[in-house]
Amino acid sequence: MRVLGIETSCDETGVAIYDDAPGAGLLAHRLHSQIAMHIDYGGVVPELASRDHIRRLVPLVRDMMTEADISANSIDGIAYTAGPGLAGALLTGALMARSLAYAWGVPAIGVHHMEGHLLAPLLEPEPPAFPFVALLVSGGHTQLMRVDGIGRYELLGESIDDAAGEAFDKVAKMLGLDYPGGPSVARLALTGRDDAFKFPRPMLDRPGLDFSFSGLKTAVLTARNQTPDSPTKVADICASFEAAAVDTLIRKCLRALEQTGLKRLVLAGGVSANKRLRADLGVALKRIGGQAFYPAPAFCTDNGAMIAFAGAQRLRAGEHQDLSVSVRARWPM
Ligand code: KG4
Ligand code: ZN
Repeated sequence: MRVLGIETSCDETGVAIYDDAPGAGLLAHRLHSQIAMHIDYGGVVPELASRDHIRRLVPLVRDMMTEADISANSIDGIAYTAGPGLAGALLTGALMARSLAYAWGVPAIGVHHMEGHLLAPLLEPEPPAFPFVALLVSGGHTQLMRVDGIGRYELLGESIDDAAGEAFDKVAKMLGLDYPGGPSVARLALTGRDDAFKFPRPMLDRPGLDFSFSGLKTAVLTARNQTPDSPTKVADICASFEAAAVDTLIRKCLRALEQTGLKRLVLAGGVSANKRLRADLGVALKRIGGQAFYPAPAFCTDNGAMIAFAGAQRLRAGEHQDLSVSVRARWPM
């Protein structure tokens, strides 16, 4: 089954074609990032995002198919992100997908954006076997899941306030750094000292697998306001914040592995691109004989490949949607 995937939930227009035949896999993918367009506003402007998706979608799909020499009549289904995300942005992708599916006479399927992230590591040459624990860390979600198979997800814990990526973004904003905050904070953290500030590791003293990042964010704000300016102040805050956030994520992952008795850990979502998280997690997992699985760097943040892959699994299982176009800005997985 050959599936065209379309992702437009936020500020990336992503398209891809995935074929689940043995030896095939991901045949083509294209991404247009809107970062340059939103950067002057310090974050995503929803109306601008929708308009840009509309401008980009047709050329992206057409160019991708032309370059990969894939004809419309070889496509068996179309998958699109149906939520969660920005409602207007989601509608652009849903409409495009529905229209193409109608024109080409193939089924369409709406995919949960976080299921796309969750399954992205399965696109890799050596994918994790089920069952595994997954840490989903994006701009809108921080969740620990037990994954027993496609569609068999058990929520083990989640953030009770800000998502991890959201905390990176808000800290960046406080420090006057560019959006998206994660990469900006990570870049500056390289030159700062991790122990310059003693930031809290929220919820580690309590049992359970939930997260909280709002106290850490407030501690950063206090440090920014109460520390005299110096050439290293911002880098030191970034390094100390990143150390606290990464430490918290890793310790909860270890707790989840211990609780489930599993050794395989999948990381997905934008924050899984964080280099310190990967390095420190590698060290921590080595100690317990565990193994981490990541999507390729290009598929950590939003992309069409993960939607094509998740859609192919669902279409293969016989699911598809009727002709109506509906999206869900909020949608628990
Ligand atoms: O998965 P994603 O592209 O979109 C959502 O579904 O939200 O994740 C975006 C989030 C943003 O909050 C961004 O700041 C964060 O991922 N991010 C990072 C890094 N790269 C992206 N956070 C920390 N370190 C990074 N290197
Ligand atoms: Zn995402």
